Amino acid sequence: MKRALLYILLSLTIFATMSCGRKAEVKDIQVIPEPVFCVKKAHTFTLTNKTQVYFDNLGQNTTTAKYISKTMRKMHFHSPLLGKRESGCINFHLNDTINQEIGDEGYLLEVRTGGVYISANTEAGLFYAFQTFMQLLPDDVATVSYRRISIPECTILDYPRYTWRGSHLDVSRHFFTVKEVKRHLDLMAAYKLNKFHWHLTDDHGWRIEILKYPKLTEVGAWRPNRAGIPWGEILPAQPGETADYGGFYTQDEVRDIVSYAAMLHIDVIPEIEVPGHCSAVLAAYPQFACSEGEYQVQVGPYWPAEAVLCAGNDSVMAFLKNVADELVTMFPYDYYHFGGDEIVKEPWEECPHCQARMKKEHLRNEQKLEGWFMGQLENYLADQGKTLIGWDELVNAGTSTHSVILSWCGARGVMQAARHGNQVIAAPADFCYFDYYQADPAYQPAAMPHVVSLQKVYQYDPVPAGMPKSLMPKILGGRANLSTEYIETYKQAEYMLLPRLCAFSEALWSPAEAKDWSRFRKKIEHHKNRLETKGYTCCPGSFRPTVHEAVETDSTCKVAFESEVLNTYIFYTIDGTEPTRESSIYVGPISLPKGTLLRTLSFYSGNPQEGVYDYVVGGKK
Ligand code: ACM
Ligand code: ZN
Repeated sequence: MKRALLYILLSLTIFATMSCGRKAEVKDIQVIPEPVFCVKKAHTFTLTNKTQVYFDNLGQNTTTAKYISKTMRKMHFHSPLLGKRESGCINFHLNDTINQEIGDEGYLLEVRTGGVYISANTEAGLFYAFQTFMQLLPDDVATVSYRRISIPECTILDYPRYTWRGSHLDVSRHFFTVKEVKRHLDLMAAYKLNKFHWHLTDDHGWRIEILKYPKLTEVGAWRPNRAGIPWGEILPAQPGETADYGGFYTQDEVRDIVSYAAMLHIDVIPEIEVPGHCSAVLAAYPQFACSEGEYQVQVGPYWPAEAVLCAGNDSVMAFLKNVADELVTMFPYDYYHFGGDEIVKEPWEECPHCQARMKKEHLRNEQKLEGWFMGQLENYLADQGKTLIGWDELVNAGTSTHSVILSWCGARGVMQAARHGNQVIAAPADFCYFDYYQADPAYQPAAMPHVVSLQKVYQYDPVPAGMPKSLMPKILGGRANLSTEYIETYKQAEYMLLPRLCAFSEALWSPAEAKDWSRFRKKIEHHKNRLETKGYTCCPGSFRPTVHEAVETDSTCKVAFESEVLNTYIFYTIDGTEPTRESSIYVGPISLPKGTLLRTLSFYSGNPQEGVYDYVVGGKK
């Protein structure tokens, strides 16, 4: 009997030990974006399922406190989460006296043996501190039930370089569900991005319910289904074809997303593309075009984008003002994007109403008509205390300096907008367009035909080289752009975003002088693992080696090469033969005669990656 009891007790103990989870010891601090100041100390703090969270003067019912408790609970810490301050707890404290150094979004995070002390001037600061704290925990903390986690004692003082840290998601070219949009917002929050540019309308679909214009979503949200066909091969809609592919968000769903974003300290900026890129509007309301005709929601490549709203028809401006009136009931923030992108002028040139408008308003040409059109919207928004955001073209169109210019046209675009006197969001395509390939197109799913690798994104700086100091305050920050022509599923959207969004966040949050590719290259592996553990999909990266060479003698160069991805082994030949895993392995710079054909093959996790890359030393065959 005694033996049986002992046996039962022993079994229960083993079971309890197993079900209470594992232990982890985190040794390195690998936070992205890199904090302003971070010092690791000798000792450790141990988080257990008894660790309490103490919100001090941050009310337990604030959205931030609720978010923190909920997130901790999701990590299997079913502890008495909220409690009174005692040794060993995680303390959140709102500063009684403002700490000027950390501003509105910064924080101080101190991990000591006896507890974690987090303070900030604002809830946003505490929120970001919590995101950093989460990154101090093991990669798989979201899925593994840990019993004890020890993390390094450290002091982190942190605040952002830019206030505008944007991420754009195009839901017009392909529609994503409310759940998927929230997943995107979660990702933004984890990397301290705070402005969600929600691209709700374009030629391929109008995605937001507007009560006064029901056809925008009854007609404008749907197109014939071409799922599975690469974007470049999609044929136009045929007459009479069923349009059942698409979707839209009801106003309640929009409010739900805006409120979810607010919990994550993310502002949502609606992006309504006018007067160009308006096929979906004109399919629903053809009377807003310059000329009568049948307009269709586009199904694939559409260039030049000739579906333009008439700038001479008063009912068009009334329509847009009515749309704006409904938008302001859903989006409580100051900024509204009304586009002005790639406006094809021919319809205006041929339209008597547009020409009459130009005459009446003394507008020299159609470009100035564009300025007038956007100016009307700008003034209407300004009357409601709102600011218009539009693309580079607005500068030449003569829009006022009150608009914020979103610049995709490289250093020239950013500089031009700043010189004009506008504030600028810098999104140069060469660094910030995540619809471009991130590695050799031969080995990637179809995308826009340019390459922006992770390393390239890491080089992004919102301030263009050579920008005069006096203009720098004009830069609000930047945004990563995800147009979704080639992106049919949200899983694919993640693949295109990750890990590039991590590099982007570091460019906007961390001090310029903290930029360190070799450190980032190490951190990103850990983050890819972390993201994949949470179920996110990441691109493995680019394996084409970057080659650096220095002239050594008249006839030789010192050649160094490296893959973007840590722990890649590069095998190479110099005799023209195909490299294999039996070839020489690269371990350090090699001296090679000019004209040598260097052939490489990268291996990762024991498998060849991409293909053989050829490189001629000294640039000659
Ligand atoms: C753009 O990429 N045309 C804004
Ligand atoms: Zn017209």
